Amino acid sequence: MECQPVKTKVKIQRYLMNVGLVSKPVVEALPFDSAQGAYQNTSLPKPMPPKDPKSLRSYRWYGPDDLRSFGHRSRAASMGCLQADYAGKPVIAIINTWSDINPCHSHLRERAQDVKRGVWQAGGFPVEMPAITLGETFQKPTTMMYRNLLAMETEELLRSYPADGCVLLGGCDKTTPALLMGAISANLPAIFVPAGPMLRGNWRGQILGSGSDVSKYWAERRAGNIDQQAWMQIEEGIARSAGTCMTMGTASTMTGVAEVLGLTLPGASSIPAVDANHPKMASRSGRRIVEMVWEDLKARDILREASFNNAIATVLALGGSTNAVIHMIALAGRAGIKLTLDRFDDLSRKTPLLANLRPSGKYLMEDFYYAGGLPALLKALASHLDLQSLTVTGKTLGENIGCAEIFNGDVIRGTDNPVLESGGLAILRGNLAPSGAVIKPSAAEPALWKHAGRAIVFDSYDEMNARIDDPALDVDANSVLALRNAGPKGAPGMPEWGNLPIPQKLLKAGVRDMVRISDARMSGTSYGACVLHVAPESFVGGPLALLKEGDIVELNVTSRQLNMRVSDEELARRRAAWRPKAGIYPRGYGKLFLQHIKQADEGCDFDFLEGTAPIPEPEIH
Ligand code: FES
Repeated sequence: MECQPVKTKVKIQRYLMNVGLVSKPVVEALPFDSAQGAYQNTSLPKPMPPKDPKSLRSYRWYGPDDLRSFGHRSRAASMGCLQADYAGKPVIAIINTWSDINPCHSHLRERAQDVKRGVWQAGGFPVEMPAITLGETFQKPTTMMYRNLLAMETEELLRSYPADGCVLLGGCDKTTPALLMGAISANLPAIFVPAGPMLRGNWRGQILGSGSDVSKYWAERRAGNIDQQAWMQIEEGIARSAGTCMTMGTASTMTGVAEVLGLTLPGASSIPAVDANHPKMASRSGRRIVEMVWEDLKARDILREASFNNAIATVLALGGSTNAVIHMIALAGRAGIKLTLDRFDDLSRKTPLLANLRPSGKYLMEDFYYAGGLPALLKALASHLDLQSLTVTGKTLGENIGCAEIFNGDVIRGTDNPVLESGGLAILRGNLAPSGAVIKPSAAEPALWKHAGRAIVFDSYDEMNARIDDPALDVDANSVLALRNAGPKGAPGMPEWGNLPIPQKLLKAGVRDMVRISDARMSGTSYGACVLHVAPESFVGGPLALLKEGDIVELNVTSRQLNMRVSDEELARRRAAWRPKAGIYPRGYGKLFLQHIKQADEGCDFDFLEGTAPIPEPEIH
């Protein structure tokens, strides 16, 4: 979305007349797309700056009169390409995470064609490159195990092939950080095209939200309040189209992060996957990336510390997923910027929650889009943002959101009427989490923000499943459920097990929230008083490994404390008796993962992928 001043409208009008598309001025009649905030004709190709084709990275592959380049050109010819298709043009890699096993990306084959159309129009040469898909619902043990693999693949695809710039297609939870991490490390001009949220779910006239309503109705099913027929109807009605989860889960959080970091076109992250504006955004991205190559506007030129502060504030204003904490630390690490958990807590204390979206609020992403989308929220949040941050448009964030408007003040609140004054995320510390833990108070029962209870400890996910509904389990509503060996190395891969199920006997008694603690993550669509990302994790000897059944655990969100009421002497005795477990992977990617994965408070990147140390361009011979 771009605001177009009157002068630009007149230029468009003159252009249309000049090229014979209209015979009289039509500015007032140009269709105005209020959701996009743009006149359709603003998407006409802009004149390119003077070009030196030899300055293109891809020239090294295609240009020289030597044997290697002969091979590249002759093999391009074998695919039906004329030299006129690519000679002297920016080669744009379209990294596509489409797959038959990823429902959130099922429309991305078509979107790749839309991107290509834009690239061709702007004088570039599009090359689609498939990359592994991280299908959140199908991939085991967890997509988090493979985020860094996709990041590596993205970086190496861009480095090893003749790419001058790239368009990244994805959106399902880990895909966005993975693609961006790779592109930031490759440091080419890059635009991210978010897959877009799916349509609202529907069941018997009620609106259903991904994840949030699954958890809600599953609890009712386990409590005996939903029969088989109703459950099957929910199954049929909760996912109605292509696209990502339409609550403010990890997918919408991270695509919003991509946008506020300046790595998408303005407004891109809010457009529903099946809305006609989505392919338009894709083709606009294709056009813009060609310009970015000529402008030499690279990913790390855009990313600054202020961009990440903006992204944190936006996640807080959106009521975004706790997963964003891990992903943003990793993204910043790729740009050579150090983000700490304390930065999240500092900003959380002063940033209001403005998006009334599930799981923290009432509405869904489709409503958010109609209400003005992310640009409108950013405008409402402007006093908390650095508006001078650069974006892929070549303009500042402030310029991009200049004409944004809120069309529904209950979906996107103003700072004078927030959903929550502050405190969307809280970073906890104490003798249970010396390196930190995360909770999302806006998605928890306020009565549990300060709580002390007896620990019920599960050593593994399997043990939890075996015991949780045992009628003999000595648990009540005040108990604290604790799960260990669910962290980055322990699970491994840090699955979304942190929303531990409430024991069935308590569900039947009407309990719907309890304090739960783990070194796991939680789906961004989930809710509950769940303390997550406990670091260091229990598998490497973090204090959660020392917690015993019956110990009193104290949570205080206001004072940011998480402790077990156990003396230092007793903890020392337990530590002396503690023995580490062996990792479960003797070879392969799993072994590499266990050797190099970092802890949650450090972003869970591989230690050898962080930083900005230059890597030489490949030799071409
Ligand atoms: Fe893909 Fe939720 S399962 S975004």
